[in-house]
Amino acid sequence: MSLLSIDNVIKTFQRGRGPIIHAVNGVTINIAEGETYGLIGESGSGKSTVGRLAMGLLEPDSGSVRFDGKVLSDLSRSARRKLRSDMTVVFQEPYESLNPRMTVGSIVAEPLVIQGLEDSRSAVRDRAFRALESVQLEPSLAKRHPRDLSGGQQQRVGIARAIITRPRFIVLDEPTSSLDVSVQAQILTLLSELQSEYGLSYLFISHDIHTVEWISDRIGIMYLGQISETAPTTTLFDNPNHPYTRALLSARLSPDPTVSIERFMLGREIPNPTQLPAGCFLSGRCPMEIDKCSESPVELEAVSVNHRVACIRVGDIDSEDLTANLRE
Ligand SMILES: Nc1ncnc2c1ncn2[C@@H]1O[C@H](COP(=O)(O)OP(=O)(O)OP(=O)(O)O)[C@@H](O)[C@H]1O
Ligand SMILES: [Mg+2]
Repeated sequence: MSLLSIDNVIKTFQRGRGPIIHAVNGVTINIAEGETYGLIGESGSGKSTVGRLAMGLLEPDSGSVRFDGKVLSDLSRSARRKLRSDMTVVFQEPYESLNPRMTVGSIVAEPLVIQGLEDSRSAVRDRAFRALESVQLEPSLAKRHPRDLSGGQQQRVGIARAIITRPRFIVLDEPTSSLDVSVQAQILTLLSELQSEYGLSYLFISHDIHTVEWISDRIGIMYLGQISETAPTTTLFDNPNHPYTRALLSARLSPDPTVSIERFMLGREIPNPTQLPAGCFLSGRCPMEIDKCSESPVELEAVSVNHRVACIRVGDIDSEDLTANLRE
């Protein structure tokens, strides 16, 4: 059974009387115990909204989110509060997500205090020290403030805070995007070690394909609030089916990664999520498009075990066609 199940979730937003923003449009994701699911997509494609839905921080308009078999929106407030120790989150900007007035020790210990998980101050302090050790930070840093730390150290503090309650599931929302490349690698290695040690499940959100490839067991490619292709990592990289996935992967190998994506997308801007296309969400921008693509919505279909693709042209196109189109 999956630890986390997001089932056909739709989420819209509306600012005042403004237009309806279709942020998440029918997303299904299942994450098993100990698994990392990588969610990759351009800015505005709905990744963080999926992360917040997964944590129960947002209510879906329709569809459901289950953790350990329980539908989050059916839980009482106190049951939800208890889940806060099982499900935690690490954000992109470590400095912004850490309270600058608090010491590192109290930032890390705070979830234990808020959730009343330890009675004595010494037990809280011991656990905070152990959490700092787990993320390879000197316990002496507990007395310092976030501003005294490097970006990598700050993110280790964010991770220590996320693991101190011994969660089973962590949403990692671009946890390495603001860090230098060498520090990114250290943080990814740390996350992977913590996962093996504690049997954690991760929803790893990023716009960087290298990072997602390195850390994920399975990957979902997001575009305009939908998953256009999902597969185990090696399957996706060996046999990408969706034209958009192929363009993303060819961009990865290109000396200038923006070029092939620009050619493919006919301009860099992701379409406005206030006006969803009637058919395939890529219609109007896909080099492999035929008339039928813009007529009716396209669903994810299985092309092999665990590999699902939302494209009616799967099977009709081969990579040479696409490469030729990208070169034109
Ligand atoms: N609270 C909100 N109110 C209104 N619109 C929102 C809200 N949260 C997200 N959106 C909109 O929903 C869409 C998806 O946003 P989301 O933050 O999930 O994208 P993202 O893929 O995480 O982007 P990024 O890579 O820039 O972080 C965007 O159009 C965004 O402006
Ligand atoms: Mg985001």
